[in-house]
Amino acid sequence: MADVRRMVVLVSGHGSNLQSLMDAAADPSYGAEVVLVASDRPGAYGLERARAAGVETAVVRPVDFPDRAAFDEALTGVVAAARPDVVCLAGFMRILGPRFVRSFPDRIVNTHPSLLPAFRGAHAVRDALAYGVRVTGCTVHLVDEEVDHGPVLMQAPVAVEDGDDEASLHDRIKQEEHRLLPAAVRLVAHGRVRLDGRRARLLAGGPEPAAIPGPAAGPGTAAGPGPAAGPGTAAGPAGSGRRGRAPDREPIDGGTP
Ligand code: GRF
Repeated sequence: MADVRRMVVLVSGHGSNLQSLMDAAADPSYGAEVVLVASDRPGAYGLERARAAGVETAVVRPVDFPDRAAFDEALTGVVAAARPDVVCLAGFMRILGPRFVRSFPDRIVNTHPSLLPAFRGAHAVRDALAYGVRVTGCTVHLVDEEVDHGPVLMQAPVAVEDGDDEASLHDRIKQEEHRLLPAAVRLVAHGRVRLDGRRARLLAGGPEPAAIPGPAAGPGTAAGPGPAAGPGTAAGPAGSGRRGRAPDREPIDGGTP
């Protein structure tokens, strides 16, 4: 395909969201490829996924720099050298500094495991469970200089089920992230997002939000019937997913995803 856009993905851990991007990109009609996977942690499993897929990798460790600004500068250089059309934070557990964010304006996408603005921060799934909400979910959004704050691109709800623990709930949230993230990243990569203040309009005439695969079938929310699914919102009742897997998220100090 002629116009293949360039994605750089930053990971700190397991990399299942990275995998969803690489799987999507394997279809030539997706129109974008992962050209670099960078991590702050040399042991991140996401780096192995990238190598297995033949994608270039880089490691930029905070410990190798005198301060946050120097780390930010180095990471900016590594990412900029890959000439990305879009930068995706896929479980990257560091707060990006202003130098980084300003270098890729409205081209950095993050996925967060809650319905923002609820439960910002590094323990969104745990915090939602502790609060006792019946519905949580995920948010794919543009990154600005505040943590978990930029304009929302897509969201999907996930019902909290009796007996959920952090791992089981996060697992189902990730299923939704794997569905939304590639669709949202593709729109950004192809310049199909217009901002009006905080409000993001996802443009038709290119990759369509309607192309997002539907949510997993399930019982809807425990609080009542699930919302109607609709193109563009990517909303719909989330079902019960895989169970009993180890938590995908590793405890990492530093920033929040
Ligand atoms: C995802 O739930 C993402 O929202 C959060 O960290 C998790 C990363 O999972 N920021 P993985 O590494 O992609 O499996």
